[in-house]
Amino acid sequence: MKDPQDVGDTPPEEFRKQLHELADWIADFRGNIESLRVAPNEKTGPVLAQLPTQPPEDGEPFGKILSDVDRLIVPGMVHWSHPMFLGYFGWTITAPGILGEILSAPLNVNAMTWRTCPAATELETVVIDWLRQWLGLPDDFGGVVYDTASVGVMHALAVAREQIAPSTRKLGLTNRDLPRFRIYTSNQAHSSAEKTAIALGIGEENVIRVQSDEEFRMDVGSLGKTIAQDQQRGFQPMAVVATVGTTSAASVDPIPEIAKICREQKIWLHIDGAYGGGFAMLPEYRWISGGWGMADSIVINPHKTLFVPLDFSVLYVRDLERLRRVFTLVPEYLRGDTVEAEKNYMDYGIQLGRRFRALKAWVIWRSLGRAGIVARLREQIRLANLLTHVIKTDNPETIEARQSVRSRFELAAPVSMGVVCFRWVGSARRGVPTNEEQLDKLNSELVERINASGRAYLTQTTLRGRTVMRIGFGNVLTTEEHLREAWQLIRETADALSPA
Ligand SMILES: Cc1ncc(COP(=O)(O)O)c(C=O)c1O
Repeated sequence: MKDPQDVGDTPPEEFRKQLHELADWIADFRGNIESLRVAPNEKTGPVLAQLPTQPPEDGEPFGKILSDVDRLIVPGMVHWSHPMFLGYFGWTITAPGILGEILSAPLNVNAMTWRTCPAATELETVVIDWLRQWLGLPDDFGGVVYDTASVGVMHALAVAREQIAPSTRKLGLTNRDLPRFRIYTSNQAHSSAEKTAIALGIGEENVIRVQSDEEFRMDVGSLGKTIAQDQQRGFQPMAVVATVGTTSAASVDPIPEIAKICREQKIWLHIDGAYGGGFAMLPEYRWISGGWGMADSIVINPHKTLFVPLDFSVLYVRDLERLRRVFTLVPEYLRGDTVEAEKNYMDYGIQLGRRFRALKAWVIWRSLGRAGIVARLREQIRLANLLTHVIKTDNPETIEARQSVRSRFELAAPVSMGVVCFRWVGSARRGVPTNEEQLDKLNSELVERINASGRAYLTQTTLRGRTVMRIGFGNVLTTEEHLREAWQLIRETADALSPA
């Protein structure tokens, strides 16, 4: 028990010892990550059940807390940094990313205004511009770092709303003679469009989901028709949210054609590049940035694709001043700290206090360099293509053991970036269930069983109404060997599940 009279900090020598202990803990965790289950296999509540419900009255030693992390927390986690974690966008932690995150802890600054931490503000401006250059975005785009893409799109569309309904910042939306505003996005787009509509008072029913084509890209013809019909009915189109790298299949909407419609109709174009945008760093993927120069705003999540630890999302707005005008508000108590500003990032959103997120981006991006980032993205693409090849060539005809139950799989979407969607479609010996609903259930159960095994973690999604399995590559620790191990596990589990 600690001395309750002690009102200061840990003595420096003791703190140094604890830091060394923590450094060893982190190195061991990282070194042994592969020996852990990827996910626990327990019903809800095992962590809760082991923790006291009462808050601590007296202080406890760090060593005891750290051993409880090992005993209670680590086994209750899904290990997103495990090389067999193949879910979502497979984001990754790296050693330099960990160092960058640790570095910001002792600094503990609030990057709300330039004066409250000049280095944090200026470094944020620098890393935002590095990323802009890497992505080939025109220099009339300025940016701001938020925690997530969902927060980014909400801020972007607040500007769109102000443009279409001036003075909303001052007067709000109620008791004004305003039409119903519409936001258009594809049926593959992320649900953050609806969250934005909820937060901005647009209403989630005013987010119109436009059909997508056979490759899961927004159908531009349908977009044009939907907008025209809405206009005839008296609705006012406010924004289109187009996606580069959709959540399920990483498909890329036809931005140049969408941008043309937006320009002609004076509709705000927001590009959700949360996952896929980062791939524009690759010369062979540069095509995905076609039309970006005509957008009004773009979100990129370097915490998904560009190796920055969670959380770090950048919103770029063409003519960033438009964003500032919507959100700048200086309370009296901050007036003294907002003069002579290079920039006061509190002016670019609803958040006042802000973490020094730029530091970890600066550390990781300097550590890897453009070349290191590009090489790692290419490796993710290589693994995704390799898995695609495995799925396509995993043909029962080639198997000697013809008596064995041999499951069959099909690709469910064109493979894009680090994402592969596929579906179990039956077994060679036991036959293919003709009932698609039955197959949906089996695909879903397959994912559940694999995740419950603790040996790998994948996700399921729905494409064209059918349940499919989905693997995302993104972890720097995931190798070809892991891919083969995962495929073996998928096969075995499918064979065991095959209906007799
Ligand atoms: C395409 C896309 N956009 C936006 C988001 C939301 O990201 P965030 O969690 O940063 O809000 C996601 C999340 O996976 C996504 O896949």
